[in-house]
Amino acid sequence: MKKILVATDKPFAKEAVSLIADVVKSSGFELVLLEKYTTKAELLAAVKGVSGMIVRSDIIDAEVLQAASDLKIVVRAGAGYDNLDLEACTAKGIVAMNTPGQNSNAVAELVFGMMVYMARNGFNGTSGIELRGKKLGIHAYGNVGQYVAEIAKGFGLELYAFDPFVSKDIIKKAGITPLDSVEELYKTCHYVSLHIPATAQTKQSINHALLSSMPQGAMLINTARKEVINEADVLKVMAERPDFIYISDIAPDNKADFEAKFANRFLFTPKKMGAQTEEANINAGVAAAKQIISYINDGVETYKVNK
Ligand code: 3PG
Repeated sequence: MKKILVATDKPFAKEAVSLIADVVKSSGFELVLLEKYTTKAELLAAVKGVSGMIVRSDIIDAEVLQAASDLKIVVRAGAGYDNLDLEACTAKGIVAMNTPGQNSNAVAELVFGMMVYMARNGFNGTSGIELRGKKLGIHAYGNVGQYVAEIAKGFGLELYAFDPFVSKDIIKKAGITPLDSVEELYKTCHYVSLHIPATAQTKQSINHALLSSMPQGAMLINTARKEVINEADVLKVMAERPDFIYISDIAPDNKADFEAKFANRFLFTPKKMGAQTEEANINAGVAAAKQIISYINDGVETYKVNK
């Protein structure tokens, strides 16, 4: 019987694992589960003999792929696949996929949860501010950006977006003002919610020039990858501008500096929490399992991300 491994350092909700197991078993595959592993050796041992593998942010590098001698397909249950070594997958004839859109609403809801928390001074008893009427910039209008826009309308935010890969007409039709450049987005908006992927072009791209151009009362909300941020530059802007608030789903490398100097002006999650809902785990996990089965049984390559 062919095996499908679920390897999650940060486990899916129980309900999601049980639904993934139903899909896998009803298609005649065996489910292998490796959760909360703490060493790479455990992952290297678990991948032996499996045909398909579902992961989250788990690092799947050439060494892991080498150990997975029977592996045909690895699916990142989620959007960002910067944790997969795509070249090594291609070199070994392994298909790599993601499950776009499946966890996007969870990430978008977290954006607003964190914004409100910071706008109300961490619920510390003092008067905060309201989101209504402020300008929100959506940096990249993909799946998460679209959910953010939808929720933002309920909050009465004025919406702007920049995405060089999405036509301005699509953005306009959604009731959002499309802007011509990333510079214009940051210059215009009090709040910017980041939804760009981590690529060679985007890494470190959110820098001092952009952040220092934001209007008074600025808030940067990063539920994308921390690698897209120039973390030293954010620290510099925090020092120069007492109005600046930084929210990040996962702490930056220089977290200790923020803690030492800027108490109450930042919010960092201890682990990446954007996709940590039962619904997102079910959507992404079950989609990943179905994609593996369709590929192994019928060669379906939808959502393949490697060459
Ligand atoms: C994604 O890229 O889908 C999100 O960052 C979620 O990552 P996670 O599955 O590791 O929580």
